[in-house]
Amino acid sequence: MKNGKGQVVEIFLDSRMRLVCLSELIPAPGQYLLAHAFSSDDPLAAPVFFSDSAPNGFVAALGLSWLPGTQLNLRGPLGHGFTIPAAARKVALIAFDDSPERLRGLVPIAFKQGAEVVLISDVPAHDLPEAVEVQPLKALAEICQWADYVAFDVSRENLPGLREKFKAGNQPRAQVLVRAPMPCGAIAECGVCAVNIRNEWKLICKDGPVFDLS
Ligand code: FES
Repeated sequence: MKNGKGQVVEIFLDSRMRLVCLSELIPAPGQYLLAHAFSSDDPLAAPVFFSDSAPNGFVAALGLSWLPGTQLNLRGPLGHGFTIPAAARKVALIAFDDSPERLRGLVPIAFKQGAEVVLISDVPAHDLPEAVEVQPLKALAEICQWADYVAFDVSRENLPGLREKFKAGNQPRAQVLVRAPMPCGAIAECGVCAVNIRNEWKLICKDGPVFDLS
Protein backbone atom coordinates (compact mmCIF):
# COMPACT_ATOMS: atom_id res chain seq x y z
CA MET A 1 0.00 0.00 0.00
CA LYS A 2 1.34 3.42 -1.03
CA ASN A 3 0.44 7.08 -0.98
CA GLY A 4 0.90 9.08 -4.14
CA LYS A 5 -0.48 11.60 -6.55
CA GLY A 6 -2.66 11.09 -9.61
CA GLN A 7 -4.57 13.08 -12.16
CA VAL A 8 -7.78 12.69 -14.14
CA VAL A 9 -6.81 12.99 -17.81
CA GLU A 10 -9.88 11.80 -19.70
CA ILE A 11 -13.57 11.16 -19.11
CA PHE A 12 -15.49 8.61 -21.16
CA LEU A 13 -19.13 8.71 -22.25
CA ASP A 14 -20.00 6.01 -19.73
CA SER A 15 -18.48 8.30 -17.01
CA ARG A 16 -15.43 6.13 -16.41
CA MET A 17 -12.23 8.14 -16.05
CA ARG A 18 -8.67 7.59 -17.16
CA LEU A 19 -6.24 8.38 -14.37
CA VAL A 20 -2.47 8.69 -14.54
CA CYS A 21 -0.55 7.51 -11.49
CA LEU A 22 2.44 5.41 -10.49
CA SER A 23 2.17 1.76 -11.49
CA GLU A 24 2.50 0.68 -7.82
CA LEU A 25 -0.80 2.43 -7.08
CA ILE A 26 -2.85 0.65 -9.74
CA PRO A 27 -5.39 -1.67 -8.06
CA ALA A 28 -6.11 -5.20 -9.32
CA PRO A 29 -9.72 -5.91 -10.37
CA GLY A 30 -11.84 -5.77 -7.23
CA GLN A 31 -9.28 -3.83 -5.19
CA TYR A 32 -9.61 -0.07 -4.74
CA LEU A 33 -7.76 3.17 -4.12
CA LEU A 34 -8.97 5.93 -1.84
CA ALA A 35 -8.84 9.18 -3.81
CA HIS A 36 -9.26 12.76 -2.64
CA ALA A 37 -9.22 15.74 -4.99
CA PHE A 38 -6.75 18.51 -4.01
CA SER A 39 -9.38 21.17 -4.54
CA SER A 40 -12.29 19.39 -2.85
CA ASP A 41 -14.03 20.65 0.32
CA ASP A 42 -15.31 17.15 0.97
CA PRO A 43 -13.36 15.75 3.94
CA LEU A 44 -13.90 12.16 2.79
CA ALA A 45 -11.95 10.25 0.18
CA ALA A 46 -13.78 8.23 -2.46
CA PRO A 47 -13.13 4.60 -3.43
CA VAL A 48 -11.83 4.20 -6.99
CA PHE A 49 -11.99 0.76 -8.62
CA PHE A 50 -10.04 -0.64 -11.56
CA SER A 51 -12.00 -1.00 -14.78
CA ASP A 52 -9.46 -1.26 -17.60
CA SER A 53 -5.79 -0.91 -18.46
CA ALA A 54 -4.45 2.37 -19.83
CA PRO A 55 -1.01 3.87 -20.50
CA ASN A 56 0.67 5.40 -17.43
CA GLY A 57 -2.25 4.57 -15.15
CA PHE A 58 -5.64 2.91 -15.54
CA VAL A 59 -9.29 3.47 -16.36
CA ALA A 60 -11.29 3.87 -13.17
CA ALA A 61 -14.89 3.02 -12.42
CA LEU A 62 -16.34 5.62 -10.11
CA GLY A 63 -19.45 7.70 -9.83
CA LEU A 64 -17.86 11.10 -9.21
CA SER A 65 -17.96 14.24 -11.30
CA TRP A 66 -14.28 15.11 -11.39
CA LEU A 67 -13.09 16.99 -14.46
CA PRO A 68 -10.03 16.36 -16.62
CA GLY A 69 -7.05 17.97 -14.91
CA THR A 70 -8.30 17.22 -11.37
CA GLN A 71 -5.31 16.42 -9.18
CA LEU A 72 -5.76 13.59 -6.71
CA ASN A 73 -4.17 12.29 -3.54
CA LEU A 74 -4.26 8.51 -3.76
CA ARG A 75 -3.81 5.72 -1.21
CA GLY A 76 -3.73 2.06 -2.09
CA PRO A 77 -4.14 -0.47 -3.54
CA LEU A 78 -6.47 -1.55 -0.74
CA GLY A 79 -8.49 -4.66 0.06
CA HIS A 80 -8.84 -8.07 -1.53
CA GLY A 81 -9.60 -8.38 -5.25
CA PHE A 82 -10.97 -11.15 -7.46
CA THR A 83 -9.09 -14.37 -8.21
CA ILE A 84 -10.26 -16.40 -11.19
CA PRO A 85 -9.33 -20.06 -10.61
CA ALA A 86 -6.70 -21.17 -13.14
CA ALA A 87 -8.94 -24.06 -14.26
CA ALA A 88 -12.00 -21.86 -14.95
CA ARG A 89 -13.08 -21.95 -18.61
CA LYS A 90 -16.62 -20.56 -18.31
CA VAL A 91 -16.58 -17.21 -16.55
CA ALA A 92 -19.72 -15.24 -15.69
CA LEU A 93 -19.48 -11.58 -14.65
CA ILE A 94 -22.69 -10.41 -13.02
CA ALA A 95 -23.42 -6.75 -12.26
CA PHE A 96 -26.38 -7.32 -9.96
CA ASP A 97 -27.58 -3.77 -9.38
CA ASP A 98 -25.22 -1.30 -11.04
CA SER A 99 -22.87 -0.77 -13.96
CA PRO A 100 -20.56 -3.69 -14.89
CA GLU A 101 -17.48 -1.46 -15.02
CA ARG A 102 -15.86 -2.80 -11.83
CA LEU A 103 -15.97 -6.32 -13.35
CA ARG A 104 -14.60 -5.40 -16.76
CA GLY A 105 -10.97 -5.81 -15.67
CA LEU A 106 -11.58 -9.57 -15.34
CA VAL A 107 -12.27 -9.95 -19.08
CA PRO A 108 -8.64 -9.96 -20.30
CA ILE A 109 -7.60 -12.21 -17.39
CA ALA A 110 -10.28 -14.75 -18.32
CA PHE A 111 -9.40 -14.61 -22.03
CA LYS A 112 -5.73 -15.09 -21.24
CA GLN A 113 -6.48 -18.46 -19.65
CA GLY A 114 -8.71 -19.49 -22.56
CA ALA A 115 -12.07 -18.97 -20.85
CA GLU A 116 -15.36 -17.91 -22.44
CA VAL A 117 -16.92 -14.85 -20.78
CA VAL A 118 -20.58 -13.93 -20.32
CA LEU A 119 -21.44 -10.56 -18.83
CA ILE A 120 -24.83 -10.18 -17.17
CA SER A 121 -26.06 -6.66 -16.65
CA ASP A 122 -29.13 -4.53 -17.17
CA VAL A 123 -26.84 -1.48 -17.52
CA PRO A 124 -25.14 -1.26 -20.93
CA ALA A 125 -21.36 -1.61 -21.12
CA HIS A 126 -19.53 0.25 -23.88
CA ASP A 127 -16.63 -0.96 -26.03
CA LEU A 128 -16.57 -4.53 -24.79
CA PRO A 129 -14.59 -7.09 -26.83
CA GLU A 130 -16.90 -8.81 -29.32
CA ALA A 131 -16.13 -12.19 -27.80
CA VAL A 132 -17.93 -11.21 -24.57
CA GLU A 133 -21.54 -12.38 -24.63
CA VAL A 134 -23.89 -9.95 -22.89
CA GLN A 135 -27.11 -11.13 -21.26
CA PRO A 136 -29.78 -9.41 -19.14
CA LEU A 137 -30.12 -10.07 -15.42
CA LYS A 138 -33.07 -12.37 -15.95
CA ALA A 139 -30.61 -14.90 -17.42
CA LEU A 140 -28.77 -15.14 -14.08
CA ALA A 141 -29.96 -18.62 -13.03
CA GLU A 142 -29.26 -20.12 -16.46
CA ILE A 143 -25.77 -18.59 -16.72
CA CYS A 144 -24.88 -19.69 -13.17
CA GLN A 145 -25.73 -23.26 -14.23
CA TRP A 146 -23.34 -22.88 -17.17
CA ALA A 147 -20.42 -21.13 -15.42
CA ASP A 148 -17.57 -22.68 -13.48
CA TYR A 149 -16.64 -19.30 -11.95
CA VAL A 150 -18.91 -16.36 -11.17
CA ALA A 151 -17.92 -12.82 -10.13
CA PHE A 152 -20.70 -10.62 -8.76
CA ASP A 153 -20.84 -6.90 -8.08
CA VAL A 154 -23.56 -5.93 -5.59
CA SER A 155 -24.35 -3.23 -3.05
CA ARG A 156 -24.35 -4.19 0.63
CA GLU A 157 -28.11 -3.56 0.76
CA ASN A 158 -28.80 -6.06 -2.03
CA LEU A 159 -26.54 -8.85 -0.74
CA PRO A 160 -29.47 -10.79 0.85
CA GLY A 161 -31.38 -10.58 -2.46
CA LEU A 162 -28.37 -11.89 -4.34
CA ARG A 163 -28.01 -14.84 -1.98
CA GLU A 164 -31.67 -15.74 -2.55
CA LYS A 165 -31.35 -15.64 -6.33
CA PHE A 166 -28.03 -17.44 -6.49
CA LYS A 167 -29.46 -20.39 -4.54
CA ALA A 168 -31.56 -21.18 -7.59
CA GLY A 169 -28.51 -22.05 -9.68
CA ASN A 170 -25.71 -24.53 -9.66
CA GLN A 171 -22.94 -23.73 -7.16
CA PRO A 172 -19.79 -22.84 -9.08
CA ARG A 173 -16.97 -21.01 -7.34
CA ALA A 174 -18.34 -17.52 -6.77
CA GLN A 175 -16.86 -14.29 -5.48
CA VAL A 176 -18.70 -11.09 -4.74
CA LEU A 177 -17.55 -7.49 -4.68
CA VAL A 178 -19.67 -5.80 -2.02
CA ARG A 179 -20.08 -2.04 -2.43
CA ALA A 180 -20.58 0.32 0.50
CA PRO A 181 -19.21 3.71 1.58
CA MET A 182 -15.59 3.22 2.71
CA PRO A 183 -14.57 6.62 4.11
CA CYS A 184 -11.50 5.57 6.08
CA GLY A 185 -10.25 2.54 4.14
CA ALA A 186 -9.58 0.69 7.43
CA ILE A 187 -7.28 3.35 8.87
CA ALA A 188 -9.70 4.60 11.54
CA GLU A 189 -11.81 1.42 11.89
CA CYS A 190 -14.87 3.68 11.61
CA GLY A 191 -17.20 0.74 11.00
CA VAL A 192 -19.23 2.53 8.31
CA CYS A 193 -18.53 -0.32 5.90
CA ALA A 194 -19.47 -3.16 8.28
CA VAL A 195 -21.41 -6.10 6.88
CA ASN A 196 -22.83 -9.08 8.73
CA ILE A 197 -21.75 -12.35 7.12
CA ARG A 198 -23.04 -15.52 8.74
CA ASN A 199 -23.50 -13.77 12.11
CA GLU A 200 -20.03 -12.29 12.03
CA TRP A 201 -19.23 -8.63 11.42
CA LYS A 202 -16.70 -7.95 8.66
CA LEU A 203 -15.24 -4.71 7.34
CA ILE A 204 -15.77 -4.41 3.59
CA CYS A 205 -12.80 -2.03 3.28
CA LYS A 206 -10.37 -4.50 4.87
CA ASP A 207 -11.82 -8.03 4.75
CA GLY A 208 -13.25 -7.36 1.25
CA PRO A 209 -14.40 -5.71 -0.83
CA VAL A 210 -14.29 -9.09 -2.61
CA PHE A 211 -15.52 -12.07 -0.57
CA ASP A 212 -16.07 -15.70 -1.45
CA LEU A 213 -19.83 -16.01 -1.74
CA SER A 214 -19.78 -19.30 0.13
S1 FES B 1 -14.29 2.39 5.92
FE1 FES B 1 -13.83 2.76 7.99
S2 FES B 1 -13.67 0.72 8.78
FE2 FES B 1 -14.17 0.42 6.69
